[in-house]
Amino acid sequence: MRVSSWSKAILSCAGGVCVAVVLLCLAGFHAGAAQPLPASSDATLRQAGEARHIYIGTAAASRFLEEADYAAILGSEFSQLQAENEMKFGLIHPRPDSDANPYDFRGGDALVAFAQSHQMVVRGHTLVWHNQVPDWVKKGSYSSSQLAGVLQGHIHTVVTHYASKVYAWDVVNEAFNDDGSMRHTIWYDQPGIGAGPGTKYIEQVLRWAREADPSAKLFYNDYDAEEVNKKSDAIYEMVKDFRKRGVPIDGVGFQAHVSLKFDDPKKLESFAKNLERFAKLGVDLHITELDIRLNDSSATSLAAQAKLYGEITTLCVQQPACKVVQTWGFTDKHSWIPAFYKGQGWALPWDADYRKKPAYEAVRQALEK
Ligand code: XIL
Repeated sequence: MRVSSWSKAILSCAGGVCVAVVLLCLAGFHAGAAQPLPASSDATLRQAGEARHIYIGTAAASRFLEEADYAAILGSEFSQLQAENEMKFGLIHPRPDSDANPYDFRGGDALVAFAQSHQMVVRGHTLVWHNQVPDWVKKGSYSSSQLAGVLQGHIHTVVTHYASKVYAWDVVNEAFNDDGSMRHTIWYDQPGIGAGPGTKYIEQVLRWAREADPSAKLFYNDYDAEEVNKKSDAIYEMVKDFRKRGVPIDGVGFQAHVSLKFDDPKKLESFAKNLERFAKLGVDLHITELDIRLNDSSATSLAAQAKLYGEITTLCVQQPACKVVQTWGFTDKHSWIPAFYKGQGWALPWDADYRKKPAYEAVRQALEK
């Protein structure tokens, strides 16, 4: 029996059935069943993650599902899928509510269908963000109360549509500046939804999301908040306040778009400390958009990248509240990095020809350690 399917059996069993399943598994294991135990390195990332109770996720796009290699890797190596773009406001709600057909669920639905047919969970991204907001909202000259109506309707419709299909939502994305102040956005104060200063609008949209699907886990997600710094301090204070007052927040997402500069013991230690202080607030922690961009694809760079992938995965393994390691795509063929960071790329565990890079092995070993 495979080590991975053995652990899966334990994870999937419930109540009294559990004992029987485990005993059967142990019997097979000790009797030296016909199939010899393969080396643990035969496990997929998904299997290695399951043994650690960590979902291994990736961002994906429905248009790539037609590529055989893309679909095969996505469906076998990952236990969680998140739409890279197709659940964002501009794509899922491209036309005003006055239109006969304001929403477009096709991309998101195709991804959910793929995930379900491969026994993957789905993470939703994202309901409230300053980017990828459609022109009909940005140029609609809405008053604050009208904008509140638009956003409440959006959250209600999207979260209801995916209720029981999406288990966790990035409700709010990137609401803070690096210095910990609130980012000025259409939803906050330009003109804003009229909820008031500070984190009040975040509180409001979390409440709307909770109403729409009481069983979905609600997350705040941001970048450059991995270390203890002004931004993560501000997020921490917000989550602490929300937990104290019963505002619905279940987790924090750490994007982790990093370069090799992050491979610094001080930074990694600070990330671990930061995770620990959030864990003490009783929230789930997800690494949501991990990628490690490089300036070239030399063997030295790929080895350094692998080391850092392993170290970041280990931080999650060592922190019980960390339940997800998710990369922002999985193949360099379809990574967002070259378009957004000029001259950089090669950021993901599979190369542009769908070959595993050293980073792949490093993530698996970190999960199996
Ligand atoms: C990026 C996508 O990867 C791109 O395809 C798109 O053009 C822009 O957005 N932080 C986030 C993600 O939360 O939604 C962003 O995704 C990357 C940064």
